[in-house]
Amino acid sequence: MCGIIGYIGDRKACEVIVRGLKRLEYRGYDSVGVVTEEDGKLYIKKGAGKIDEVVERLNLLDMPGKRGAGHTRWATHGVPNDINAHPQKDCTGKIALVHNGIIENFAELKKELLEKGHAFESDTDTEVIAHLIEEELKSSGSFEEALRKALLRLKGSFALGVIYTEEPDRIYFVRNESPLVLGIGEGENFGASDVPAFLEYTNRVVFLDDMEYAIVTKDSWVVKKLETGEEVEKEVQTVEWTLEMAEKGGFPHFMLKEIFEQPRVLRDAIHGNAEIIRDVAREIANYDKIFIVAMGTSYHAGLVGKYLLQRLAKKVPFVEDASEFRYEFEDLVDEDSLVIAITQSGETADTLAAMKLAKKKGAKVLAIVNVVGSMATRIADLTLYTHAGPEIGVAATKTYTTQLAVLTMLAIELARVLGTADEEYLKGLEESLREVPDLVEGSILNLSEPLRELAESLKDREDFFYIGRGIGLPTALEGALKLKEISYIHAEGLSAGELKHGPLALIEDGVPVVAIAPNGKTFDKMVSNIEEAKARGAYVISIGSSEKLREVSDTFIKMPNVDEVLSPIPYVVPLQLLAYHLAVLRGNDPDKPRNLAKSVTVE
Ligand code: F6R
Repeated sequence: MCGIIGYIGDRKACEVIVRGLKRLEYRGYDSVGVVTEEDGKLYIKKGAGKIDEVVERLNLLDMPGKRGAGHTRWATHGVPNDINAHPQKDCTGKIALVHNGIIENFAELKKELLEKGHAFESDTDTEVIAHLIEEELKSSGSFEEALRKALLRLKGSFALGVIYTEEPDRIYFVRNESPLVLGIGEGENFGASDVPAFLEYTNRVVFLDDMEYAIVTKDSWVVKKLETGEEVEKEVQTVEWTLEMAEKGGFPHFMLKEIFEQPRVLRDAIHGNAEIIRDVAREIANYDKIFIVAMGTSYHAGLVGKYLLQRLAKKVPFVEDASEFRYEFEDLVDEDSLVIAITQSGETADTLAAMKLAKKKGAKVLAIVNVVGSMATRIADLTLYTHAGPEIGVAATKTYTTQLAVLTMLAIELARVLGTADEEYLKGLEESLREVPDLVEGSILNLSEPLRELAESLKDREDFFYIGRGIGLPTALEGALKLKEISYIHAEGLSAGELKHGPLALIEDGVPVVAIAPNGKTFDKMVSNIEEAKARGAYVISIGSSEKLREVSDTFIKMPNVDEVLSPIPYVVPLQLLAYHLAVLRGNDPDKPRNLAKSVTVE
């Protein structure tokens, strides 16, 4: 996730852009860059570092021109450094662009362009877009046509601001699967990833849809379809948000905003790993001694990973708290071992210590990480990124579901390499995984209001139990953890089979029991466990897709029907929402739970 802004009008462009970038810093903060244009010449300044630091170091407020674009980066391809910062340009230096998104087929396009003689400066997927437009321009009647032709060749997500020196009166903005909104002013216009970037100048906005582009001059704007070049009618809307609300995308808290961002970042996680996952799977396929190490929510992702690897790739990994692994497995990890470390921040002290131990013992280390350039990526032999963008709420939400998406892709690919599952089945799973973001968007996020009403009726409860079986068990554990950390309600996650071996003694009238019950191997057993709890007076909230659950539960949260191995992603979303609403109703700030920090850098 990155932030982009473009401006055209009568103000000094660099000033408007820098102010806008500061408002977009929540979207990324590892590098910053600005391009402006005056008299047919592009001025580009960019560098790694936080905005304030780069603005001062490179004097970003001293750039000529009344049109320009800027970018705040959250690295996806290429480490955060000065060269990989945006804007990126073509060979002629006439086309400059800023990009938010991930181009899946960039390696293939880059190879083709290299063969045609293009020289690249950076490791980014973005630079490929500039060169592709340059290439198309050779055989096109206009820049607009070249832009369209080039962009139609891209696979993946992109929001772009594009400047071409030969067309001094305009900026192009494009959107596909990454957000882009136009700001309509008087004698000036804007385009950005998000409204706060320009809200101090105008609250009149036009939202672009996927596969649309806009041509924006200082006094006009038009939106067209990327596929055909046809004009699209668009309504100008007025946004009534304060700046503070706008930074949270109109949501009252970052946590809720991040829960709602999940469809988009899940798409990024899937696009962003589509190519690399094959190489990684091949490199690790022969390891049989596998340890997954992580803490907290990432540990729960590790547990999901274990079920995925068991079911699909027929591997049996050990999943350990990184803090335990260091001491208990010291003598067992060796050069025949594969250690998969899962950490969204890439800076968790326990996880880093486990990784260092693994390296010292000669193990192969694969990291699944959200923050590019973080310590974990420097220790690991191999890294897969989750592409969730910065997460500001302390409780992990989107970083968790993107970890699950990456683990699912890895397990599918391993199964393919090892021949442990039928290819037709794997293909079907891949297709269904690509549909999961739409399911979350279309059928699950709209449960927020019913879940708020449910939370209203449960907010004075002091104990919750979450039960699940098999691949549903980690979801139960994660649901309980979310509730504990932000609502401060005591919650336990446990295997449903375990219930009658002790915990059932705690179930009395009205105690909420949340049952994770996707269709699959253990569904009937889950129904028995629900009945067991109900017989002791529990208030059962079941999550699943079978209508049978409606009969046996007090509240039934209906999920779309997905293959059981994909269920951990959609099923955790209602649990995040329930925890969020309970926290808010109890008067807590879910973004900053007491005693907790976003990144735990001490052991
Ligand atoms: C809970 C949460 C934590 C982290 C844990 C590990 O919502 O976010 O449990 O998952 O502290 O952090 P990372 O993933 O950064 O290693």
